[in-house]
Amino acid sequence: MAYQPAKTRYDTMRYNRSGRSGLKLPAVSLGLWHNFGGLDPLENARAVVHRAFNLGITHFDLANDYGPPPGSAEETLGRILARDLSAHRDELAISTKAGWPMWPGPYGDFGSRKYLIASLDQSLSRMGLDYVDVFYHHRPDPETPLEETMGALDYIVRSGRALYVGVSMYSPDETRQAARILRGLGTPCLIHQPNYNMFSRWIEDGLLDVLVDEGIGCIVFSPLAQGLLTDRYLAGIPQDSRAAKPHGELDRGEVMDGRLSKVRKLRAIAQARGQTMAQMALAWNLRLPAVTSVLVGASKPEQIEEDVACLTNLEFGPDELQAIDGILAS
Ligand SMILES: NC(=O)c1ccc[n+]([C@@H]2O[C@H](COP(=O)([O-])OP(=O)(O)OC[C@H]3O[C@@H](n4cnc5c(N)ncnc54)[C@H](OP(=O)(O)O)[C@@H]3O)[C@@H](O)[C@H]2O)c1
Repeated sequence: MAYQPAKTRYDTMRYNRSGRSGLKLPAVSLGLWHNFGGLDPLENARAVVHRAFNLGITHFDLANDYGPPPGSAEETLGRILARDLSAHRDELAISTKAGWPMWPGPYGDFGSRKYLIASLDQSLSRMGLDYVDVFYHHRPDPETPLEETMGALDYIVRSGRALYVGVSMYSPDETRQAARILRGLGTPCLIHQPNYNMFSRWIEDGLLDVLVDEGIGCIVFSPLAQGLLTDRYLAGIPQDSRAAKPHGELDRGEVMDGRLSKVRKLRAIAQARGQTMAQMALAWNLRLPAVTSVLVGASKPEQIEEDVACLTNLEFGPDELQAIDGILAS
């Protein structure tokens, strides 16, 4: 059936400026790491993307290797764009990345100019796009000079393949150096993509200060700890959940370790706030002014709907924050 986006799609979403740039991103963005590969049903992927766009999610995040098989999530998005969203390309901010192993041999991994430019050309072809809005270096490369990697990002923008560039998982020091090199080249660093959630708070230890100082936005990935910070695992591991999938990358041990007892206690605070566990976890990430967007994943349209509804209560009292810290530290 032909897709008609909801006329109300811009009514409730919040859009936050990415650092000191001109680009605004939705407070909740959708990532296509899982559930959009060649093994996943296309109709469900379409339904999730449609629901997201209907709710004002304009930002969709990919990487060259998302699938499985690697590359297939970009192909899925390409199909959905061609079929349903081609008339709305200018309403969308699409990102992709390179930095993890993608093809055999010395040119399909890390951060050389050779890898980044070839990989983005492949990504554009899989998505059927002329350009992406944001292109990221996906992880630091300990061997390639940072000048080469950042020079490649600058070239990628100048050649029209991307409008903006960002980095992912760079340390505070690496981020500062990358920002300095990019500024010198005339292509500012738009955004950093680190992981952040109640169970993983490393960005509070220096990175956020660097981002604010440098005027770089912050889009946090796995804000729900891959589903742990929801009701998903409270009664065991559901068959259709990430933890049950062979390619899920969420270890059963992680699900079963002490964290679920914390989730149960956190959930009581969420309920008192009139939120679900997932909504409170997302609102908690967005409490930091430096966080531009929370980058969620979803296997069902209902999940994205629930997640976006976190925006109706983003305020935390000092007592709530203290109680959450107490549970997390216990
Ligand atoms: N830069 C990087 O290195 C990097 C690394 C990882 C991810 N990312 C990006 O970040 C995106 C998000 O990562 P993520 O998928 O790990 O994020 P996440 O939001 O922490 O986890 C998403 C999973 O949580 C579950 N979920 C979401 N909403 C739910 C709800 N309301 N109720 C119950 N369960 C819910 C779903 O699990 P089920 O599938 O089990 O239903 C969903 O697949 C990725 O798609 C990717 O774009 C980037």
